[in-house]
Amino acid sequence: MPGGILLGETFPDFKADTTVGEISFHEYLGDAWGILFSHPRDYTPVCTTELGRAVKLAPEFKKRNVRMIALSIDSVEDHLGWSKDINSYNCDEPTEILPFPIIADPKRELAVKLGMLDPDEKDSTGMPVTARCVFIIGPEKKLKLSILYPATTGRNFDEILRVIDSLQLTATHCVVTPVDWKPGEKVIVPPNVPEEEANKIFTSGVSTKQLPSGKGYLRYTAQPQ
Ligand code: BEZ
Repeated sequence: MPGGILLGETFPDFKADTTVGEISFHEYLGDAWGILFSHPRDYTPVCTTELGRAVKLAPEFKKRNVRMIALSIDSVEDHLGWSKDINSYNCDEPTEILPFPIIADPKRELAVKLGMLDPDEKDSTGMPVTARCVFIIGPEKKLKLSILYPATTGRNFDEILRVIDSLQLTATHCVVTPVDWKPGEKVIVPPNVPEEEANKIFTSGVSTKQLPSGKGYLRYTAQPQ
């Protein structure tokens, strides 16, 4: 688990220099959900495609009330210069402005604190760079999900939005989501909900998949609205 932060723990608060000035992380998040995602270095190819995609999907994160913030071990100056490349990669005006800030962590202080360094991926001076970490933080500042990719593998931001949809649904409704679930598809009744209660809660109906064990634990219902 990156940084030893466990699911359900309060995500550490910190101050940081960013492309929009100094921020306090918890204050930056306010009452919203948050995504903090790191990348190895500015001016590198995979990172440029990832940040380009994150920029394109920023309205989708906003729709879900998720505040975005990126991080790498580069300076604010590098982040701003590289932002022009990112916008240009997206065929937009090559300005320094992205829809989310990037944290500058040139001394690797936050990267160490949050367990983001990838020991297998070193810069030209032999120092480890940040891995591709994803932290999703709930409105009460608890860690809801973390995914850790190596520098060599670009992330799938559609998958990140998908897990946010699942996290937000399951935070407010007594359901869980099955493999490859997408919004609008049927969901699963948690195994700890007794049958009688399930039938009361899920008025749209519950269907039980028959399996050889006969235990009746795989129960589907329509996605609550
Ligand atoms: C990249 O973004 O292309 C990259 C960065 C660091 C190591 C490997 C690839």
